[in-house]
Amino acid sequence: MRVLGIETSCDETSAAVVDGSGDRPTLRSLVILSQDVHRVFGGVVPEIASRAHLTAIAPVVRRALDDAGVRAEEIDAIAVTNAPGLVGALLVGVSFAKALAASLGVPVLGVHHMEGHLFATELEDAAAAPPFTALLVSGGHTLLLDVPAWGEYRLLGATRDDAAGEAFDKVAKLLGLPYPGGRHVEELAATGDPTRYRFARPMLNAGQRLGDADYYDLSFSGLKTAVLLAVRKAESDGEIEEARPHLARAFQDALVATLAEKAVRAASAHARPRIVLGGGVACNRALVERVRARAIATLGAGATVHAPSPRLATDNAAMIARAALFRLGRGERSGADLNAYATLDLPGLMPSDAVNA
Ligand code: KG4
Ligand code: ZN
Repeated sequence: MRVLGIETSCDETSAAVVDGSGDRPTLRSLVILSQDVHRVFGGVVPEIASRAHLTAIAPVVRRALDDAGVRAEEIDAIAVTNAPGLVGALLVGVSFAKALAASLGVPVLGVHHMEGHLFATELEDAAAAPPFTALLVSGGHTLLLDVPAWGEYRLLGATRDDAAGEAFDKVAKLLGLPYPGGRHVEELAATGDPTRYRFARPMLNAGQRLGDADYYDLSFSGLKTAVLLAVRKAESDGEIEEARPHLARAFQDALVATLAEKAVRAASAHARPRIVLGGGVACNRALVERVRARAIATLGAGATVHAPSPRLATDNAAMIARAALFRLGRGERSGADLNAYATLDLPGLMPSDAVNA
């Protein structure tokens, strides 16, 4: 089966062609057009994003087909992100996908954006397949999942306030770095002295026990406020320029320590020696290395941590086509009433009382 994937949930217009069956995907092409215009505003402006998707969608899809060396008539199905995200932005992709599918006479399938992130790593690393523990860390979501099989997801924990990527972006702004800031914070932190500042590890303490609500949950708004107060103090002391790398380092260390610990707690409780990371924050090398070190220390030398390369970690249509390959293989199709939704539960969520079974 050959799937054309389309992703327009935020500020990337992306299309990709993926071939294969449910468990043997091959990426034929991937085009990602990032909307740089939002940089001027320090964040994504929804109306501008929708208009930019509208201008870009047809040439981006055309280019993905050309790069794959296939004609539109050689596509068997079209997959499109239909939730969660900016509704106006999603609608551009959904409308385009439905119209193209109707004109070609092929099925269309709506895909949940976070299920796409879950499948991304496996496109380039066949070992990133279930069963595993998943930590999805993007600009809009932070989810800790147990994944016994594709399509079966136990939600163990989530952020109670800001997403991990959002915390990076807000701290980047405080430190005078461009949007989106995660990559810039990581670069600045690399030159920081880890002993100069220390922020409390958010939602992490030794007294937490399995079954406690905060055992897996995450929270980053308190950490962001702690950074804000430290930045203000350094400014009033006239030391901000010198302190910036150390503040970035202390912030990243605190955030990464919590994410790593919670991911390893989940892997340990479910006896999963494999941890798969996804979402834009999975580009962060300090996060990947910390999860790996904690996993090996806690789960043993056989523990493995799988992270996508940056192109597949951030928003892209290849992961959407890959997730669709799995669902289309099970006979799933969307109808002509396929719509876009700002929020939607991940499909395949199992009841939470099964969490520690
Ligand atoms: O998954 P993604 O592309 O979009 C959403 O679905 O939200 O994630 C974007 C997020 C942004 O918040 C960005 O700052 C963050 O991923 N990010 C990083 C890094 N690269 C991107 N955060 C930390 N370190 C990085 N190297
Ligand atoms: Zn995303």
